[in-house]
Amino acid sequence: MKKARTVFVCKECDYQSAKWLGRCPSCGAWNTFEEETYEDTTAEPEKKTARRLFLSGQNEETEPQLLDYENLPAYLRTDTGMVEFDRVLGGGIVAGSVVLLSGEPGIGKSTLLLQICNSIAKTKKVLYVSGEESVGQISLRAKRLSVKSENLYVLTETDAGKIIKHCEKQKPDVLVIDSIQTMFHEDSTSIPGSATQIRECASIFINKAKTDGTSVLLVGHVNKEGSIAGPKVLEHMVDTVLYFEGEQRQNFRVIRAMKNRFGSTNEIGVFEMTDVGLREVENPSEALLADRPVGVSGNCAVCVIEGTRPIIAEIQALATATIFPAPRRMTAGIDYNRMALILAVLEKRLGLRFSGSDVYLNVIGGLHIDETASDLGVALALISSIRDIPIPDDVMCIGELGLSGECRAVSRLDWRVKEGARLGFRRIFVPARGAAKCQVPDGVKVIPVKSVFDILSLLAPEKK
Ligand SMILES: Nc1ncnc2c1ncn2[C@@H]1O[C@H](COP(=O)(O)OP(=O)(O)OP(=O)(O)O)[C@@H](O)[C@H]1O
Ligand SMILES: [Mg+2]
Ligand SMILES: [Zn+2]
Repeated sequence: MKKARTVFVCKECDYQSAKWLGRCPSCGAWNTFEEETYEDTTAEPEKKTARRLFLSGQNEETEPQLLDYENLPAYLRTDTGMVEFDRVLGGGIVAGSVVLLSGEPGIGKSTLLLQICNSIAKTKKVLYVSGEESVGQISLRAKRLSVKSENLYVLTETDAGKIIKHCEKQKPDVLVIDSIQTMFHEDSTSIPGSATQIRECASIFINKAKTDGTSVLLVGHVNKEGSIAGPKVLEHMVDTVLYFEGEQRQNFRVIRAMKNRFGSTNEIGVFEMTDVGLREVENPSEALLADRPVGVSGNCAVCVIEGTRPIIAEIQALATATIFPAPRRMTAGIDYNRMALILAVLEKRLGLRFSGSDVYLNVIGGLHIDETASDLGVALALISSIRDIPIPDDVMCIGELGLSGECRAVSRLDWRVKEGARLGFRRIFVPARGAAKCQVPDGVKVIPVKSVFDILSLLAPEKK
C-alpha cells in the first residue's frame, strides 16, 4: 500500500524531522531543511534490490573472503589526454569509478569535461549527457573547442531512468552527467535538485558504474558557501571528489582532489582558460610570475609545495592609512587568520604599527595558498609595504613563522630552493634549521633566517 509522506530533511546531514526547523538539531546548521515527499511504502522490493546492488556491486549473494595479496585486481585506468587532470586523479580515470567534479558557475566544468571526452573518445565510447544545455549549445561549444570524434555521443536528458536505458543500448565506457542537480528519478516525487533526488540519482549512476564498470563523471554545482549543493552524503557515495577553482576574472584554474579512493589528494592540476578551451599549464611557477611587478613595495615571492610540485607564487601586500575606526583587513588566496597572526607577530616582535592601516593581502594569479611555508614571505611583503621599501626582485622567502617571531623549518627545502634557482631567484631566505643540509645550486645564495629580525636587514638600507 502506498501513501505520500512529507518530511523535512537537512541538506547537510540528512537528519529528518516531521516539521520544519530553523536549526538542525543533529549538525547545528541553520536553514538547511527542505521539504520532501516520499511515496511511503512498507515493502518495495525493487528499491531493496537497488540498495543491495549499490552496496555489493553484484546481484548474487555475497560471501566473506580471505584478505589476499596474490590475486589483486588491477585498476584499469584510462588516460584523459590531459596530464594535469590525470595527475589529480592519480593516473587516469579508473574503470567503474565515479568522479564528482564541482565548481562555481561558469568556471569551466562543461568545457573541461567536453575536452576530456574528446580525447577519451579516441579509444573509448563516451556518452555526454547534459541536463542544462541543448545539443545545439553543446555542439557550438564543441566547435569552438575543436572537439570532434566518432565515438562521442551527446544527449540532452534529465530523467535518470532514461539515461540508464540509453546506456544499456549504447554501452559507453565513460558516462558524463552534467549536472547531477538537474537529474530526477520518476519514483521520487521531490523536485530536481532536492537532497532526495540528488541522492537517488547519484545512487543510480553509482550502481551503473559498480555493476558494469562504466566510468562515471558527475558535475556538481556548489552552493553559496562554496560546498557541493545537495546532501553531504553525496561526497561519501562517490569515489573521488574534485574541486575546480579559480578567480572568475583571472585565467588560472586549479583542480584539487578533496577525496580520492584511488590516489593521493595532494596533487593539483593547473589550467588556463583561453578562448579555445582550457590549456594545461605545465609550468605553473613561470606562468604565475609572468607579470609580476618589479620595483614596487609589498611584493614577495614564496614557494609552496602542491603534491609533488613546488610552485612559486607572488604575495602582494598593501598597507595604507585607514579612514575607518576599525581598520580593514582583507585577503585573497590566503587564510585570513594566518594574516592576522603574522600581523600580530610583526606588531609585537618588531614594534611595527599596523593598527592605523588597512591591510590587503593577495596572491597573484588566483592561486590559493594554505601552506605555512609562505609565512616569512607574507611577513616580508607586509614589512615592505608599511615601510614602502621594495624587496629586490631576486629575493625569495621560505619559512614558517612562530609566535615568538622565530623562523621554523619547512619540508622539502631542497625542492623549493631548486625551483627558485630555476626561475632566476639568486637570494633565497630559508629557515636556519635545515639550511646547512640544503643543496645550493650554482649562483644562488641561501641565507639562513633564525627569526623575523633577520629579514629586516634586507629592507633597511640605512644600516648598510
Ligand atoms: N566564446 C568564448 N570565448 C572565450 N571563452 C569563453 C567563450 N564562451 C565561454 N567561455 C569561457 O567559458 C566559461 C564557461 O565555461 P563552462 O560553460 O564550461 O562553465 P561551467 O562551469 O560548465 O558553467 P555552468 O556552471 O554554468 O555549467 C566562461 O566563464 C568563459 O570563461
Ligand atoms: Mg556547464
Ligand atoms: Zn543537519
